[in-house]
Amino acid sequence: NGQYIGGKESAIKECDPWEIPRHHVRVCSILGEGSFGQVWKCEAYNIMGFKGNMVVAVKTLKDNAGERERLDLVQELQVMKSLEPHPHVVKLLGCCSERDPLFVVMEYAKLGKLQSVLRNSRGVNYYTNTHGPSSLTSHELIMFCYQIAKGMDFLSSKGIIHRDLAARNILVTEERTCKISDFGFARDVANSRVYERKSEGRLPIRWMAPESLFDNMYSAKSDVWSFGVLMWEIVTLGSTPYPGVAAADVMKRIRDGYRLDKPQHCRREVYNIMFYCWDKCPDDRPDFAELMCLLDKLLVDET
Ligand code: ADE
Repeated sequence: NGQYIGGKESAIKECDPWEIPRHHVRVCSILGEGSFGQVWKCEAYNIMGFKGNMVVAVKTLKDNAGERERLDLVQELQVMKSLEPHPHVVKLLGCCSERDPLFVVMEYAKLGKLQSVLRNSRGVNYYTNTHGPSSLTSHELIMFCYQIAKGMDFLSSKGIIHRDLAARNILVTEERTCKISDFGFARDVANSRVYERKSEGRLPIRWMAPESLFDNMYSAKSDVWSFGVLMWEIVTLGSTPYPGVAAADVMKRIRDGYRLDKPQHCRREVYNIMFYCWDKCPDDRPDFAELMCLLDKLLVDET
């Protein structure tokens, strides 16, 4: 016996607590656009027991999206529905999924993608055209790393592998809190420790562990490799990893044992943590709980 809405004779439909009436969502402006999807800034009326209007972000598909992209968004919605709220994971607020177009309604993060927050923080001296200090302190940068490790510790404890962990997929709130987002590639691997990817898509080569690149193997430990690359992005204020190297050559270098260099102004203790994430052997990499510990030590010991 399911739950029913409507009268005795009405069409019987199971009631999904996440469903929002579409006319309660008003589109304001576009926040971001990919090849097949868009994210809109919207106002949602009376949702989640909140009376009145709330600013939200809504993910949709573009008209050119195929079945594969649709499945990715449905999968992302499934993963988000399964999670209890966590301070460092973007919260699902609801969905409009009973008919097309599919809307995935999530919390709005005012500062947007971490990649842009990092790049926009770069201080440029307009007289000498040299880089001045960033508007973000090194303490804040390590705090970002710590918060992301904490969010990933939570996700990996739920058996979720993100598979696309990168600064472009982290959102930043007005309070400068990092939230993990974009679960389009994520898979719940409740029982199998390692997920084997069957079909090809566009791959985030520069963030991928060697076992993912060469054997299609994904695990919490391949997310740890990507986390190391994400730390490198944070410390360099949003540089692209392996600057000036073509993706095919990145793969060769990784296979030959080369790794990202220590960024110029990066402390040795910080570089050691990211380097630890890039061990060829997945089992010898730290897990996210250990990364939280190591990063917390850096934050406490800071003078
Ligand atoms: N861009 C993509 N998702 C977003 C969100 N949830 N909030 C703000 N900007 C975004």
